[in-house]
Amino acid sequence: MPGKTLRDEVKEIQAQLAKLQKRLESLEGLEERPTARIRTYIDGFDDLIGGGIPRGHVCLLSGPSGAMKTSIALNLLTRNSENGAQALYISLEETKESLQETMRSMGLSEDSDFIVDVGRLRTEHEDMEETGDWIEVLKDFITKRKRYRKVDLLVIDSLTGLYSLAGLDEPHRDLFHFFAFLRNLGTTSLFIFDQGEEGVYPNREDSIADGLFHVGFHRLQDGSVGLKLRCAKLRHTKHSMDYHELRFENGRFLVGPLPSSSL
Ligand SMILES: Nc1ncnc2c1ncn2[C@@H]1O[C@H](COP(=O)(O)OP(=O)(O)O)[C@@H](O)[C@H]1O
Ligand SMILES: [Mg+2]
Repeated sequence: MPGKTLRDEVKEIQAQLAKLQKRLESLEGLEERPTARIRTYIDGFDDLIGGGIPRGHVCLLSGPSGAMKTSIALNLLTRNSENGAQALYISLEETKESLQETMRSMGLSEDSDFIVDVGRLRTEHEDMEETGDWIEVLKDFITKRKRYRKVDLLVIDSLTGLYSLAGLDEPHRDLFHFFAFLRNLGTTSLFIFDQGEEGVYPNREDSIADGLFHVGFHRLQDGSVGLKLRCAKLRHTKHSMDYHELRFENGRFLVGPLPSSSL
């Protein structure tokens, strides 16, 4: 270029390099910053709840038996693990083998390192069995695991199972402290809750949870039965309250509008 010395050109290139360097640093920063929300991996549903569950929240997934609560939770953990999250699934009712079978039938990856069942907890905490303080057993297990591995995401399946094991004297208070413990760890937690009738929370669990999701059945006039899902509460989020039809198709959960003929 006329009038430009070699020195000018070098300066220009250096300035551009510095700009690129800054851009790169900001992009790296973005990658390192954990996303603010945990996706549920139910297609269409994350958009209805602001992108997912806010990080660090303690939520309940409630509904009747057979409404695919366990399947939803296994899918959520597997998909998030595949994307780098450290997950822990504590099963208080089903064995690890039974959950692995569910994962196989759903076409989920065979990697089930994140599942710990009640049998393993019992062998690792023989001394605790006498006191019967199962919340302490869980806290202890999670704390120990955190020493060598992060726990970004936790599922307890189920809270109902925890109640039968623990025989808590003051469930509301005990749960309040347990939820606070989990929030302090920065873990995003999902408690599965077996609930025959929607909205029935015997120990006011709904008031201390940050989020409530409900799955249930819907019936069509032709007698067929399908699944429905709604978010009943999610702190810090503007969300839809409505029920949506929930389906599991081609290895993915998705929501769509509830059929108008639904009873
Ligand atoms: N691969 C699958 N596709 C569709 N539905 C399935 C599949 N595997 C299991 N189910 C359904 O899910 C039900 C059990 O799901 P599960 O997650 O254990 O329910 P919950 O934990 O709510 O009791 C089964 O009764 C079956 O109807
Ligand atoms: Mg279940």
